[in-house]
Amino acid sequence: MNSLERNPATAGSRHLTRVVRGTPASDGAGVKLNRVIGTQLVPDIDPFLMLDEFRSDAPGDYLAGFPDHPHRGFETVTYMLAGRMRHADNHGHSGLMEAGSVQWMTAGRGIVHSEMPEQEDGLMAGFQLWINLPARLKMSPPRYQEFPAAEIPVVQPQNGVTVKLIAGELGGQAGPVSGVATQPLYQDIGLDAHVAYAAAVPVTHQAFIYVFEGEVQAGPAESRHVVQRGQMAVLGQGDHLELLAGSEGARLLLIAGLPLKEPVARYGPFVMNTPQEIQQAFTDYQNGRF
Ligand code: FE2
Repeated sequence: MNSLERNPATAGSRHLTRVVRGTPASDGAGVKLNRVIGTQLVPDIDPFLMLDEFRSDAPGDYLAGFPDHPHRGFETVTYMLAGRMRHADNHGHSGLMEAGSVQWMTAGRGIVHSEMPEQEDGLMAGFQLWINLPARLKMSPPRYQEFPAAEIPVVQPQNGVTVKLIAGELGGQAGPVSGVATQPLYQDIGLDAHVAYAAAVPVTHQAFIYVFEGEVQAGPAESRHVVQRGQMAVLGQGDHLELLAGSEGARLLLIAGLPLKEPVARYGPFVMNTPQEIQQAFTDYQNGRF
């Protein structure tokens, strides 16, 4: 191959390949959610299996919480924006997730846990993302990485741009999350009104954005799309994403990870590579081997 040839997959401004609104859903014991990934429209974006946004100040939408349930074969990432949620698992691990905190849980071979609101009224808001594990790590020991808001770097790459860096690197700083196979980038980006910002995204990574305040135009200048509050956009290839905030500014998640390109066998809270492994997960769970 001519070394002067430029590989179009390794550089350039990422286009938006899809813009999709989340779907209202209910999960746990009846918590109302906006499901952004993990729907019929968007079953997954390898390695991302699910993204839920929860945001309500009506206690009836969240009080039932997520009583004991199992996970095997992937990671769950909870990012709290408002409210308090207590989690506890069958290995004796427990803790309180408060506004601005992140819990990165590698379920690995299995845990049984609960995630229950620790408030009776007021706003509860945040996200839960599910990230797949490669086959070689699906049966690894469970692991938690938990960070309060104060341990999450806030980077200002330019005027009018504030990035909470949960995972990945920006401007010589690194988010606190480490040792994750898919080398994730997880940023909470705040943009002042009318600010233009080019966000770096590793060329090797699959990526999407989810806008949760205001709106942005995203993509190369010649083919920008509006992404409104409540919409997710899947990104094409490239090494950066151009963003232009609307008149009220914007806040969005920028999430990227190395695709696994492995077969996915998925049933509820178990995500494995083959149907036989799903059957084994049921058997192990029923026999108390989580
Ligand atoms: Fe869970």
